[in-house]
Amino acid sequence: MTDVSGNGPAPADDRKVLTNRQGHPVHDNQNQRTVGARGPATLENYQFLEKISHFDRERIPERVVHARGVTAYGYFESYGAWGEEPISRYTRAKLFQDRGRRTDLAVRFSTVIGGRDSSEAARDPRGFAVKFYTEDGNWDLVGNNLGVFFIRDAIKFPDVIHALKPDPVTFEQQPRRIFDFMSQTPESMHMLVNLFSPRGIPADYRHMQGFGVNTYKWVNADGETKLVKYHWMPKAGVRSMTEEDAANVQADSLGHATKDLYEAVARGEYPEWELLVQMMDDHDHPELDFDPLDDTKTWPEQEFPPKPVGRMVLDRMPDNFFAENEQISFGTGVLVDGLDFSDDKMLVGRTFSYSDTQRHRVGPNYLQLPVNQAKNADVRTNQRDGQMTYHVDGAGENPHVNYEPSITGGLREAQYATHDEQGPEIHGRLTRKRIPRTNDYLQAGQRYLLLEEWERDDLVKNLTDLIAQCDRPVQERMVWHFLLVENDLGLRVGDGLGISPEDVAGLEPLTGQDLTDEDRKRLSNLG
Ligand code: HEM
Repeated sequence: MTDVSGNGPAPADDRKVLTNRQGHPVHDNQNQRTVGARGPATLENYQFLEKISHFDRERIPERVVHARGVTAYGYFESYGAWGEEPISRYTRAKLFQDRGRRTDLAVRFSTVIGGRDSSEAARDPRGFAVKFYTEDGNWDLVGNNLGVFFIRDAIKFPDVIHALKPDPVTFEQQPRRIFDFMSQTPESMHMLVNLFSPRGIPADYRHMQGFGVNTYKWVNADGETKLVKYHWMPKAGVRSMTEEDAANVQADSLGHATKDLYEAVARGEYPEWELLVQMMDDHDHPELDFDPLDDTKTWPEQEFPPKPVGRMVLDRMPDNFFAENEQISFGTGVLVDGLDFSDDKMLVGRTFSYSDTQRHRVGPNYLQLPVNQAKNADVRTNQRDGQMTYHVDGAGENPHVNYEPSITGGLREAQYATHDEQGPEIHGRLTRKRIPRTNDYLQAGQRYLLLEEWERDDLVKNLTDLIAQCDRPVQERMVWHFLLVENDLGLRVGDGLGISPEDVAGLEPLTGQDLTDEDRKRLSNLG
């Protein structure tokens, strides 16, 4: 029998005693302290005030996007080589060296638009964020399940999210707001063809792909750089749902995908993904009909074959959903030596946004929380204090020196292991311009043609049902875009809406829109 605080006798059974956060035993958890049984409560009632005021603060702001999600833990195992070719030829990142090398990781799967308790059967991109706890510090790969995105410049992110989120007046998600925005955003067409096909509602988290989406770089020991894109392929295969399937699942549970993951791991069916990397030389590739820094594009697999670099296994679920799922914090700036940014204009914007929101959402010391800590690397900084400081980061010999440089026992700078300069030289004048080779329709059309027939039928139905709820000019512009994506798609959606190619033949291209010769040819055939 234990006496938790030395403040009094323990109760007469061997269960542990309830205390407050000061370690004081709680003798009565049912009644406040009052003057007489019916009298006023006293303000010195620390135990009650601590309990209720902590409860008042139980919620933190939910993520502004990706609020609903689930975390799982596991490991990454490197293949070390592709056949005879060692991965070290392309990246010096330690986690990819040596066959069989394992790195601990945490994953968070999520939906984007709904709130923290919203349906996991929603048509919505899925987040696929992985935190590798490497010996060189953490690496976060923050991706989605669809491989591309709605926009290619971070300055448009608040707008695309506002259009997709509920109406600010009625709090209703509205197709007329979504397609109003998309109709003015031709770069969204590739994403829309994916999102409104069955791929837009994955069956669960275990049966979906993941993609880094943005273009990153790999750097080798000689400082040579390559552009790369990451792909996660589920060993269990890809499964998706139609609207009807999703409605049935949702009628039963709003959290079927989280439940599925907890249950699979509990049964010992550990989900597994293979990580593949596409690679190209680090320059602008004028021979391609798209820009390699454009996240609305995929890289053709024939020219840039995805090469397997390792596998991920998830074998443990959190003990505490709040601490490990609500507070886990990922960011695209979280890279280790051998991995780097590209000049992708979404990537730089994202890199600012993640840690900015986390300082607000979780707090300035969010990196001291166990789930976010670089647990397999030493952390030694001169950052001190702030709300919820949990401990002092590792310091130098002399704890009085929390500055650098110092000759009295403080921390010193690391030496460059290899090169402090890398990548191509960049020249240009300050400007605000969209990237060249926007080519907004070609890959969207190719994607449409790659869909199976039932998937095309589903896509056309989903688009038609929703766009039917939009204003007529939005409907016409969407049909105009779809005719440029692929004639068949435009004709079928147009048919469903009562809009013919002749009806939209007179529409001018959007202000500043780049069209390819092929796009112009299609436009001239409309009338
Ligand atoms: C979450 C911003 C584009 C994937 C978030 C959050 C913000 C954000 C503020 C909430 C983070 C938090 O509270 O911890 C942005 C901005 C973007 C952008 C500004 C564009 C400029 C993308 C893209 C992808 C993506 C293109 C996919 C490749 C994710 C994922 C999460 C997330 C997976 C959830 C991470 C988690 O589970 O905690 N994003 N995002 N985002 N974003 Fe983005």
